[in-house]
Amino acid sequence: MSEPLVLGIETSCDETGVGIVRGHTLLADAVASSVEEHARFGGVVPEVASRAHLEAMVPTIERACATAGVSLRDLDAIAVTSGPGLAGALLVGVASAKALALGLDKPLYGVNHLASHVAVDQLEHGPLPERCLAMLVSGGHSSLLLVDDITLGVTPLGATIDDAAGEAFDKVARVLGLPFPGGPHIDRVAADGEITIDFPRGLTSRKDLERHRFDFSFSGLKTAVARWVEARERAGEPVPVADVAASFQEAVCDVLVRKALDAAAEHDVDTIMIGGGVAANSRLRAMAESRAADRGIRIRVPRPGLCTDNGAMVAALGSELVARGRTPSALDLPADSSQPI
Ligand code: KG4
Ligand code: ZN
Repeated sequence: MSEPLVLGIETSCDETGVGIVRGHTLLADAVASSVEEHARFGGVVPEVASRAHLEAMVPTIERACATAGVSLRDLDAIAVTSGPGLAGALLVGVASAKALALGLDKPLYGVNHLASHVAVDQLEHGPLPERCLAMLVSGGHSSLLLVDDITLGVTPLGATIDDAAGEAFDKVARVLGLPFPGGPHIDRVAADGEITIDFPRGLTSRKDLERHRFDFSFSGLKTAVARWVEARERAGEPVPVADVAASFQEAVCDVLVRKALDAAAEHDVDTIMIGGGVAANSRLRAMAESRAADRGIRIRVPRPGLCTDNGAMVAALGSELVARGRTPSALDLPADSSQPI
């Protein structure tokens, strides 16, 4: 068979993503986001997300097919995020993928959302090395993973024990009066700020490292920023928003990069793949590149549009599953909101 033509559907959170790939070549990446509908609530509202997926699904599939110049009948397989994520949101994607698979008589592949955040990098930088480290940082997860064969799953080395990195960005942005989702705004505002405040780096004390070597904690940092801002306001002094943003961002990136590099050294890997929405952060990219170069480690980060949730990442992993002859999922594939990696 020539390289498989695979359509991937992603609906685990607030993005309805439909991607089409042939092998490692990206043909279409259509995304409809309901983020603006959630903005006034300051966070994603599950019911709003599910309804938006329902409305966006068919037009987004049509848009992806038109961009790729293919018809549904040309597809070799359908892949879909089966978890983890918001239960109702996942259900819309899984039901749609089953309908396509059944109606077109094509194999169905349920894929893990985190594994597909890793697989997507192959569309941009080619096959992953035999073994690498992946750091996934988004609004829902912050994990360090050891990746051998992405189609067989990944080995978790550590994860956040409270807030995800993106969640911390979003909450701190709120404290600073910046819109939701806050990550891109903090990134932008911080560019004009200076790192003047030494905010805490969670789980980096010697004692914490014994139990949480590769875990993260961002809730203490978020509280420290909120207290700092409150103290300023109580004193009637202006809040230096750009400096707070830059100092907060530095604290998050410092811990992420430090732990990723230590994990790479411990597991003897020379490549770190960074994915998830926070991987779009300019400081994280620059810091990871420069510190990794000092240690002879290669950093791979997909372009920002492929770091945030999208259908191309699901198609990328689906295509890998087809290429390696993995068994398709049954048509009673469940949506599993707490699916482990
Ligand atoms: O991967 P993603 O689109 O969705 C989840 O699975 O969560 O990630 C969204 C998260 C949000 O928390 C958003 O604030 C954050 O990624 N984000 C950023 C940046 N762009 C998006 N955080 C920091 N800097 C950015 N440039
Ligand atoms: Zn994600």
